[in-house]
Amino acid sequence: MTTAPAARVPADPPPAAPVRRPRALDTEAVHAGREDLAAMGLHAPPIDLSTTHPSADSRAEAARIDAFAATGSRPEGPPVYGRVDNATTARFEDALARLEGTAGAVAFASGMAALTALLLARAAGGAGHVVAVRPLYGCSDHLLDGVLPGTSVTRVTSDGIAAAIRPDTGLVLVETPANPTLVELDIETVARACGSVPLVVDNTFATPVLQRPATLGARTVLHSATKYLGGHGDVMGGIVACDEELACDLRRVRFATGAVLHPLAGYLLLRGLATLPVRVRAQSATAAELARRLADHPAVGRVRRPAVGGAMLAVEVVGDPHRVIAGVELITPAVSLGGVDTLIQHPASISHRVIGEEGRRDGGIGDRLLRISVGLEDVEDLWEDLDRALNACRESVTDSR
Ligand SMILES: Cc1ncc(COP(=O)(O)O)c(C=O)c1O
Repeated sequence: MTTAPAARVPADPPPAAPVRRPRALDTEAVHAGREDLAAMGLHAPPIDLSTTHPSADSRAEAARIDAFAATGSRPEGPPVYGRVDNATTARFEDALARLEGTAGAVAFASGMAALTALLLARAAGGAGHVVAVRPLYGCSDHLLDGVLPGTSVTRVTSDGIAAAIRPDTGLVLVETPANPTLVELDIETVARACGSVPLVVDNTFATPVLQRPATLGARTVLHSATKYLGGHGDVMGGIVACDEELACDLRRVRFATGAVLHPLAGYLLLRGLATLPVRVRAQSATAAELARRLADHPAVGRVRRPAVGGAMLAVEVVGDPHRVIAGVELITPAVSLGGVDTLIQHPASISHRVIGEEGRRDGGIGDRLLRISVGLEDVEDLWEDLDRALNACRESVTDSR
């Protein structure tokens, strides 16, 4: 006996998945890079300190190595060796990419190692020419001066970018707000001037809390993670947030040159991201109040705070800036920035010493400029300290008359 085929009843369409609005930055900062923890029965991210990953299957390892060499993608499964990938660092990379709105991110031992890898990755593809807008952090500026083989630089003001681009230009590098003057650029305008050449924005000062360059046309975002991302002055790191194609190139450079982020640093930086939004907003509010008071101080010629916000201040004093540095008691006289405590430094002596007088003049970095990174202390305590030190600086003007 044959049975007639069952009549086909059209299936109900699957229920439409509810549309979820994207999570806010504050939520991502706390949860990104940690999504798998609960299923693993964990609350804090595990720290994988392995430098190597055992395998009895050499053929599988060979295939993994070949795949990494060919693509630069993160290997499936264990990464063979600690210079290829690390599970803890990967959490920090994924989280920062989410905050910056890029497909991926690649972490390095420091901000300078991250910039070096970017330059080498582009030079390896025959595009070692860089167009750069001053001012830049002193060591970044110095690195562009042909320190790395196969690289060269043309320095321009922002309106000269388009004209300076050559067939071998691999990237355009800007900082906004710039270290140390806090001068700002309009990222969308600059990105248009770059055409098809990748724009790299060093976002160390603004952080993704205040500005997300990738959403404004920049292909690549650079951070000294040593600063706000870590936030406590106790970890060095750097990271490049970018598309997956560039991320693959950067992973291969990192594997070849070895400037990996230590997994403990990866852990601390991921933890730092969780409080990044609250730290940046609280520090910015204090900086805004200090900027207001500094503008009226007789020892201050000019104070600049970025329009985008943030906790960095550029203060030009009328007297001897070294007296201010020597006069503070609560504020720490030290280079670096972005931590929970307030730091002050004299760029011409420290952060921008390496570029020499001409480089500083070109970048508008005067001898009376002080750079302040405002921390989380009480605003009145900070003001008392600054006011006292500035008054001593003003006396130096009277003394020298
Ligand atoms: C804006 C900026 N970019 C990059 C760097 C370099 O970062 P690192 O000191 O982590 O190597 C710094 C360091 O101060 C910086 O201020």
